[in-house]
Amino acid sequence: MKTNSSNSLLTVSTGPLKISELPPNPCTGNEFIHLSLVIPTYKERDNIRNIVSILSQLLDESIAGNYELIVVDDDSPDRTWEIAQSLTTEYPQLRVMRRQQERGLSSAVIRGWQAATGSVLGVIDGDLQHPPEVLMQLLRNIEQGADLAVASRHVEGGGVSSWSVVRRFLSRGAQLLGLVILPGVLGRVSDPMSGYFMVRRSAIAGATLNPVGYKILLEVIGRGKVDQVAEVGYVFCERKEGESKVTWKQYIDYIHHLVRLRLTTGGTGRLSRKVNFPVGRFLRFGLVGFSGVFVDLTVFHLLRTVIHLGLTRSTILSAGVAIINNFLWNDLWTFSDISQGQRALHQRFKRFLKFSAVCLAGVILQALIINFLYNVLEINQYLAKLIAIAVATIWNFWINLKLSWRVTDVK
Ligand code: GDD
Ligand code: MN
Repeated sequence: MKTNSSNSLLTVSTGPLKISELPPNPCTGNEFIHLSLVIPTYKERDNIRNIVSILSQLLDESIAGNYELIVVDDDSPDRTWEIAQSLTTEYPQLRVMRRQQERGLSSAVIRGWQAATGSVLGVIDGDLQHPPEVLMQLLRNIEQGADLAVASRHVEGGGVSSWSVVRRFLSRGAQLLGLVILPGVLGRVSDPMSGYFMVRRSAIAGATLNPVGYKILLEVIGRGKVDQVAEVGYVFCERKEGESKVTWKQYIDYIHHLVRLRLTTGGTGRLSRKVNFPVGRFLRFGLVGFSGVFVDLTVFHLLRTVIHLGLTRSTILSAGVAIINNFLWNDLWTFSDISQGQRALHQRFKRFLKFSAVCLAGVILQALIINFLYNVLEINQYLAKLIAIAVATIWNFWINLKLSWRVTDVK
């Protein structure tokens, strides 16, 4: 039997996980965007047919002939790669890679990109948890100039379908940890855990990617030359077939990955300089915080002199009023652009609870810092207090921006 090139398997590159520039096109002229979309799979035999068919139909409608789908299967025992291969006659734009030497989601994606011919490289899960309709919005953002377009659960239109409290807590905790270790990377997108995105080849060409585990987007942002980032909201659907491969190991891998990226990209590196810190928002946040001091003092004064309430009660009550004051101004002014789409009372209340928790943590942080500065370094107590306030303000601002005023609807 003759094997023609369309149904033979792709060769797996070996060596460093590095994406090359596209070889110069001799027949230049039309500057079309050619999309290479990688679908990593492991034991997805019940999904593969479906996803290939849906994606092909969608892409044929808009960019027929200008894309390729690359299934990268890690030699699944259920022979997903074989089913994928059998689909290549029906879907000529489908290419299949069967990896037998290496394993792991992130490296699968990069090996797929190494075999890709597109100027735009994308990735989508193979289990239909990523809604295919979002694909064209991602591509449009790239066409409009973005270097990276990320499908996000945490912007307008985004959400999760029915995650347990534990899973949401873990997801959020993982993001918080990431923000602390690698703010320059995690802070650039609302959903750094997303495995659904597109990136310009030119933004990552030449960089050697070195991911551990699942979170390849961290690597793309951390090591690539990504200037303009766009985000598109999406709802992470429930799996209908097969099962997730996430285990505790993924959490360990994630921490390992964060630390390695931190150490190898450096804090004063190119990235930190590029991070566009939202200065205007920070100033508004600072001003609101300042107003809170006056509210706090005024209420404290009234409680003490008019009602003659005890010292502790007055302190707690006035601080509570100040927190409410600050929250309202921040919600209506500092973060108004974000809160606009989430105006229901229960949504505001949820933000309020998160805001209060973050502020409380900020107070504890202040206490720790002032103790360290005053008792250990023996710095003047007022200077120590000022430094503690400054650090706590930045903490409050950053964490509130990333956690309290982000949109995640359960749909
Ligand atoms: N080739 C290959 N090798 N594919 C894999 C491997 C692997 O070792 N492990 C998982 N996959 C494939 C799965 O078959 C699926 O298509 C996709 O990668 C995602 O794996 P899931 O196990 O379904 O992960 P999830 O549902 O928890 O999704 C989480 O990770 C995704 C990928 O980063 C979420 O964080 C998603 O937002 C994210 O897209
Ligand atoms: Mn999944």
